[in-house]
Amino acid sequence: LEATLTFDRSDVIGATDRRLFGAFVEHLGRCVYGGIYEPGHPTATDDGFRGDVLELVRELGATIIRYPGGNFVSGYDWEDGVGPVEDRPKRLELAWLSIEPNTFGTNEFIDWCRKGDLEPMLAVNLGTRGPDDARKLLEYCNFPAGTKYSDLRREHGWEKPHDIKFWCLGNEMDGPWQMGTKTATEYGRIAVEAAKMMRTIDPSIELAAVGSSGRNMPTFGAWEREVLRHTFHQIDFISLHTYLNDQARDTPAFLASSDAMDDFIEEVIGIADEVATELGSDKRIDLSFDEWNVWYRTRSGSDRTLPGWPVAPSILEERYTMKDALAFAGACISLLNHADRVKSACLAQLVNAIAPILTETGGPAWRQTIFWPFADFANLGRGDVLRSSVNSPTYATVYHAPRGENDFAHEMPAVPFLKAAVVYSAEEKIVTLFLLNRSLDEAMSVAIDGTGFSSLTPDTATVLRHDDLEAINTRDQQPVFPAPLPAFGADDKGRITLPPASWTVVRMK
Ligand code: AHR
Repeated sequence: LEATLTFDRSDVIGATDRRLFGAFVEHLGRCVYGGIYEPGHPTATDDGFRGDVLELVRELGATIIRYPGGNFVSGYDWEDGVGPVEDRPKRLELAWLSIEPNTFGTNEFIDWCRKGDLEPMLAVNLGTRGPDDARKLLEYCNFPAGTKYSDLRREHGWEKPHDIKFWCLGNEMDGPWQMGTKTATEYGRIAVEAAKMMRTIDPSIELAAVGSSGRNMPTFGAWEREVLRHTFHQIDFISLHTYLNDQARDTPAFLASSDAMDDFIEEVIGIADEVATELGSDKRIDLSFDEWNVWYRTRSGSDRTLPGWPVAPSILEERYTMKDALAFAGACISLLNHADRVKSACLAQLVNAIAPILTETGGPAWRQTIFWPFADFANLGRGDVLRSSVNSPTYATVYHAPRGENDFAHEMPAVPFLKAAVVYSAEEKIVTLFLLNRSLDEAMSVAIDGTGFSSLTPDTATVLRHDDLEAINTRDQQPVFPAPLPAFGADDKGRITLPPASWTVVRMK
């Protein structure tokens, strides 16, 4: 196969925001307990944080971390997770049918973030609770001193305010599975009331309203419009969620599915800007893609919940394959190519539950296949994303979107085998090409046609590929990892050869 990738230094989509490279920690399965937090683990810090996991989080390059949910937050009483640990109650947790021990809560999360140099993003409970609870939590976290909740924080041992900037106004309130599901009007009303009070306490915060849980939700579009009409003047972001899946066991379709993320992003931007016009405002609402990943094997049945209300059950521990890493890499490209409006995004999640990092409780931690494209994206994707044009052979496939009763499939007649993003770092004077070859059996020679650079010579390149698309990384063997691109640099005419079914990252100077 032959393709061309064209870009121009002066044609910039937008600069990537640091927050584009976020992740997510929910009280779900072993994400917190046995994941980031495990007192007594051989690598644990004095605070009980797993040192091996912190090390991998650093290597992953994650920047902002959303917490504490997810579906969990819609039934969470944050007061249960603060104060002396011995006084904290155990609770029935209805999102994942577990017992929540509450030995880890908001203050521990903030300490963990500080240790890992990560920005915290907190979600408030607008499911079983509401605006009043949100204002109390904000007062607890961000108000300096001299009031009931700020003094409570100080009494609990955190003298200085946490100064949390990014707040999510609930989670997936459009989903029937959510505790306290709402209609768009019900949600829009309480979200704006919560936002008003929260901004009064701390005008420096940034707020994200809940958008659709997926593009195939029956309310998608109408939901955003209605929610934005209520909240527009009080919020900064609208959220969106996507989990790519290969439930149809159709690899070419799976590798094309991230292209629907591009459409989803553009549709949400369109609606947000339409509401702006309707309200006569030139304010632009940015997008917070605060849950995205590949997730399908552990979406239902015994992989989703375990009987008997266990503590930290091994649920949603998706084992990612080489194929999953490729679909995932396509999503990284979609996010980069919308850097002008997607200003924040969180890989869902970080450890154990649908995560790039897996651990054994009491044992080691290791990198799943999806760890690698994320690390490339987060560590090398900083800078200006250049508008790139791909001229590539295409293939015909179908987009499958199973979710309960709303299953649908639509034709994708011309999916380019090459999916790409180009990032220029003016600081380092380096162009980074992110290249996904979606052909399962053919190598692809890509001509690089960049203008506006004094020089553009390939410097280094890594490739993630494996003969077996079902290969996974386990505790004892990690066969999927990036290696130098073989024979890279042999063609000095600027053509780069990508192996079939591969993710290649090229640095040019
Ligand atoms: O990330 C797993 C779950 O997916 C989250 O709790 C929820 O928000 C979404 O449905």
